Amino acid sequence: MIRAVVLAAGKGTRMKSARSKVLHEICGRPMLWYVLQALRGAGIEEILVVANGELEAQIGAFGVASVVQEEQLGTGDAVRVALERLAPKAKGRIVVACGDMPLVTAELFRGMTGSLDSEDGEDAAMALVTVKMPLPSYFGRIVRRGRAVERIVEVSDATPEQLAIDEMNAGIYAFDEAALREAVAQLRPENAQGEYYLTDTVSYFVNAGKQVRPVLATDHLHVLGINDRAELAAARKEMNARLCAQHMRDGVTIVDPITTYLEPELEIGSDTVIYPNTSIGRLSRLGKGCVVGPNSRLSNAAAGDRVTIRESVVVDSTLGDDVSIGPYAHLRGETQLGDRVHVGNFVEIKKSRLARRVKVSHLSYLGDATVGEETNVGAGTITCNYDGAKKNETTIGRDVSIGSNTSLVAPVTVGDGALTGAGSVVTKDVPGGERVAGNPARPLPKKTPGQE
Ligand code: UD1
Ligand code: MG
Repeated sequence: MIRAVVLAAGKGTRMKSARSKVLHEICGRPMLWYVLQALRGAGIEEILVVANGELEAQIGAFGVASVVQEEQLGTGDAVRVALERLAPKAKGRIVVACGDMPLVTAELFRGMTGSLDSEDGEDAAMALVTVKMPLPSYFGRIVRRGRAVERIVEVSDATPEQLAIDEMNAGIYAFDEAALREAVAQLRPENAQGEYYLTDTVSYFVNAGKQVRPVLATDHLHVLGINDRAELAAARKEMNARLCAQHMRDGVTIVDPITTYLEPELEIGSDTVIYPNTSIGRLSRLGKGCVVGPNSRLSNAAAGDRVTIRESVVVDSTLGDDVSIGPYAHLRGETQLGDRVHVGNFVEIKKSRLARRVKVSHLSYLGDATVGEETNVGAGTITCNYDGAKKNETTIGRDVSIGSNTSLVAPVTVGDGALTGAGSVVTKDVPGGERVAGNPARPLPKKTPGQE
């Protein structure tokens, strides 16, 4: 059984932030979220996060156990605190990861834990990920004797010859649990920083005649630890490229992945095209054959097939098939649009339901409104939904013609097939089939047969 300990109690001083480092986000999720995803992707479900008090208060959202390390006495002390919390398991294995490495992959964890196994003879006590990196670097150096790893030397304890080594300790390990418990109990803070170094377990195992297996990471980005805002931006760029690549593999055209900002857990149908300067986030779902962007933002949006969203913002809203939005429209507040609805230039729609084939083509605000099928809302129509104290609803039936520049003073209902003339200020309900105009709007003479 493999369990994981995620180290995240460090202060993250270089972020210069009131927020715990691992809670800083890349592509819409905290760094820690990605590390947990990668561990779970490798089949590791039981995870204990070593937190500071500030992180501990936020950890509930992540669905993992946590333990507070009161004083940051080093990575070895952090693991000791975790081991005290974890009930000992015979033949257990423990992965140790860092909460600030959001680009780490499930494959890396799998490869590392797998390398503890031995085909013949004794399983290793420890496997660790190493990485070739350009110098200078603040990472611990891997000192080898022949092909075997002999020890890890921290930069502050290293000799000039050791500092010239370009193979680094990534800070990700897998341990045989019993061996780890034994080694951690032996750690002493006898080094330049006066800290308990988890990395000292390497020489402990080597001296005890136990196996330590290095696993070389293929890409140093996978083990990029985030220490400041510049590294945070670099990690975001890499993660975004990965997310774009994944959707492109699934049949989505992304015209410019550099300026397309995605988040994890999106659903985007094949043959959808995303134009530049577009961000899509918060569990948005798009069907097939859609066109989104340029210059658009979708957040918690759901759209059917063949939907077009140009230069617009769609937040917390649901769109049917063949809907077209924009340019320069803003949908929000649980708005729902039926199939073939058209929302045009400079239109804001909040918390409204528009049935199929409704058109709101220009310069309008619909708030707290319900609009029936095939109704046309003329340019400049405004629902006056706020009376200074509360929001009121507007109900518009089907096949209604709302004339340009109509003000609908809510609460108000316009019945099926009714019409409002240009500039109407509708303060009273309009019965079905009635034609009204003026301020305040009054009924117009009835249509006579043959009259348009
Ligand atoms: C550590 C390694 C170094 C490696 C590097 C990779 C040690 C002694 N050194 O260095 O060989 O190259 O990581 O990034 O382990 N943490 C705690 N409690 C503590 C101290 C740290 O939870 O008391 C956590 C931090 O939040 C962080 C992780 O452990 O997530 C690593 O700590 P950090 O201080 O970054 O380790 P380094 O000294 O940089
Ligand atoms: Mg570090």
